[in-house]
Amino acid sequence: MNTKYIKLFEPGKIGNLIVKNRIVQSPMHSKNCEGFEMRYSHWYTEYFRERAKGGVGLIITGHVKAEKTIDPYPINSTFPCIDSDLAIRDFNEVTETVHLYGAKIALQLSAGTGRLADIPQASRWPAAPSTQPLFFHKNLVCRELTRGEINGLVQAYGYAAGRAKRAGFDALYIHAHSYLIDQFLSTCWNQREDEYGGSLDNRMRFFCECLQSARNSLGNDFPIIVGIGLEHGFEGGRKLEETIEIAKRMQNLGVNAFHLREGCYDVNPPTMPTSYMEDAISVPNAAKVRANIGIPVIVDGALGSPDLAEKCLVEKKVDFVGLARPLLVDPEWPKKVREGRTEEIRPCIRCMECLHRVSMGKFIGCSVNGRVGREREAPVAHATSPRKVLVIGGGPGGMEVARIAARRGHRVTLIEKNQRLGGNLLEACAPKFKKQLLLFRQWLERDVRSTETEIILGKEVDNTFVNKMNPDVVIVGTGTHPCTPDVPGALGKNVIQAVDYLREQPDVGAKVVIVGGGMVGCETAVCLADKAESITIIEMLPEILMTMTVYTKYTLMELMDKANVKWETGLKLLEINGKGVTALGPNGDKRFFPADTVILSTGFSPNDQLYKSLEKEGYEVYAVGDCQGTGKIFNAISVGYSIAKEL
Ligand SMILES: Cc1cc2nc3c(=O)[nH]c(=O)nc-3n(C[C@H](O)[C@H](O)[C@H](O)COP(=O)(O)OP(=O)(O)OC[C@H]3O[C@@H](n4cnc5c(N)ncnc54)[C@H](O)[C@@H]3O)c2cc1C
Ligand SMILES: Cc1cc2nc3c(=O)[nH]c(=O)nc-3n(C[C@H](O)[C@H](O)[C@H](O)COP(=O)(O)O)c2cc1C
Ligand code: SF4
Repeated sequence: MNTKYIKLFEPGKIGNLIVKNRIVQSPMHSKNCEGFEMRYSHWYTEYFRERAKGGVGLIITGHVKAEKTIDPYPINSTFPCIDSDLAIRDFNEVTETVHLYGAKIALQLSAGTGRLADIPQASRWPAAPSTQPLFFHKNLVCRELTRGEINGLVQAYGYAAGRAKRAGFDALYIHAHSYLIDQFLSTCWNQREDEYGGSLDNRMRFFCECLQSARNSLGNDFPIIVGIGLEHGFEGGRKLEETIEIAKRMQNLGVNAFHLREGCYDVNPPTMPTSYMEDAISVPNAAKVRANIGIPVIVDGALGSPDLAEKCLVEKKVDFVGLARPLLVDPEWPKKVREGRTEEIRPCIRCMECLHRVSMGKFIGCSVNGRVGREREAPVAHATSPRKVLVIGGGPGGMEVARIAARRGHRVTLIEKNQRLGGNLLEACAPKFKKQLLLFRQWLERDVRSTETEIILGKEVDNTFVNKMNPDVVIVGTGTHPCTPDVPGALGKNVIQAVDYLREQPDVGAKVVIVGGGMVGCETAVCLADKAESITIIEMLPEILMTMTVYTKYTLMELMDKANVKWETGLKLLEINGKGVTALGPNGDKRFFPADTVILSTGFSPNDQLYKSLEKEGYEVYAVGDCQGTGKIFNAISVGYSIAKEL
């Protein structure tokens, strides 16, 4: 056993529940439920099995609803529901499975969705503590919950908590973060004039009633955790001072632990820090709450570095470390840390594809781990007949296929035309703020190198080479090349491609214009902050970063603001010369932007010729990643994983 991470592996207590270590899987809705009844499916069981097996101490399920008659929302995102005794059987399969590995499991129970209802149904119009605009439809207003409905929700909460206990859960987690209980707690969402609104006592009444209703079913000894936001993070939202007061009162009411995070649904990034944000952002305020109460706190939010997690425990800022995405990416995080194999931990790149998928109603998935969401499938197995596999291209797609195929016993040769492995990740990792991506690139390279894969660098593969080698299977992961717009001056001396800039970081002039406001253009602009006096992006579309998930977009825009990057949209590039850039505006007006250096970030074209010609020649050939069409790491890894698993 490793001696570096003593605290992480010390048993902890929540009420009378003993947890074998200080690692908690934070709640993650994974969209694995089945049917109209929103039942937990076998997908869930296998998803949790892998994480329990990986050594986590306590798992908190994703959002589960207590009932769906009074508050049937969300309609699209289908949270599972524990509103009938039938559900006990499904949940019991989950708890028994988790217990096989010595892990404990808490059910995250929500009293309702309130103003966060997604698709309003005329038959049961969304209702919240007070009449107010719906979060997802600002032009629609939800109604005020009646007292009868409040009583119904409270009663359902108690029944659901009782079912959780009967299903074998070890603790109940009361979801008081953004959803209905938080809406009652907070003056920004609760303007009631009856006994449920106004003073803090009144605003806490709905929580107290749900808690009491749960206690009636669970008894006084059953551990209860409350998840609550530290600060909502917007003007008029709850501040830390009141959170401390609420936490003290909840502790006095018999709550056994808190799960603390910054932000709320309306201001999401502090809860789930993106790649453009700092690590551990919830820890400072959580530590202040902890100092005011006497029960354990679980804290998450970019704590995936084992050193950082251990430090927070040693410094007594947290009692349990919450890991959501780090355990999604690598279910064996605890096991690897315990065994001192931290270099083997696959890092989360904080890209938010996982959340984006579930919010679009899809099964959960992950950019850097193709198995996520597919845990029910058989694990990668040894090949029955080893084959000679040629992988062309050492980007993430090629490396993913090579490392899995080699582990399966195939004879793999990976050939990369450059002197380094990484493909576009080499440029993608260049900005300081892409440190998580850098860790992933390094992990991928280490992992492929730790297999029997023969790696050849500096060799551009063509058809003749393939014919000579005569492999059984060819995987083509040749990626893309940057597009150069067909306008006068695009090849001028003052013009450079964004990828070339990121790779070589040459000097630039005082005034820089970047053509193209996608992710690459915008990240390049932030990188230039210390080098150029003015940085302007011109974008043809009506908005910048149009294809980026909302979860990451605004945090990158914050970095752009800090770096004083300006942008203008609806502008079509017409010409570049030694003095700057001319573009056509939306009203047909010509605009000139002075520039000493022009950086092009106008997209990528797939390198698919080799794939097409090998297919014509009759090879068993598969394309992976961007050479199929410009994409993201998600495509390269998920397709790479699928190909390698089936070879
Ligand atoms: C600046 C930048 C930032 C990015 N940031 C992100 C991000 O944050 N998140 C995200 O999801 N995606 C990001 N991307 C996109 C991501 O990098 C790509 O989707 C991903 O790298 C595609 O992987 P791939 O293996 O298909 O191709 P590539 O990474 O392009 O790799 C292809 C490799 O094949 C090699 N090759 C080509 N032809 C031959 C040949 N004939 N013989 C041998 N080798 C050959 C190339 O040299 C290259 O190394 C970014 C891209 C850029 C440019
Ligand atoms: C895909 C996904 C789903 C989530 N679902 C929930 C949820 O159902 N309930 C909840 O309280 N938090 C949810 N969260 C927030 C996480 O519990 C956690 O607070 C956040 O991801 C920060 O921790 P991390 O940096 O370790 O990922 C979710 C996060 C992700 C990424
Ligand atoms: S999809 Fe991205 S943010 Fe989500 S777990 Fe995977 S790497 Fe992390």
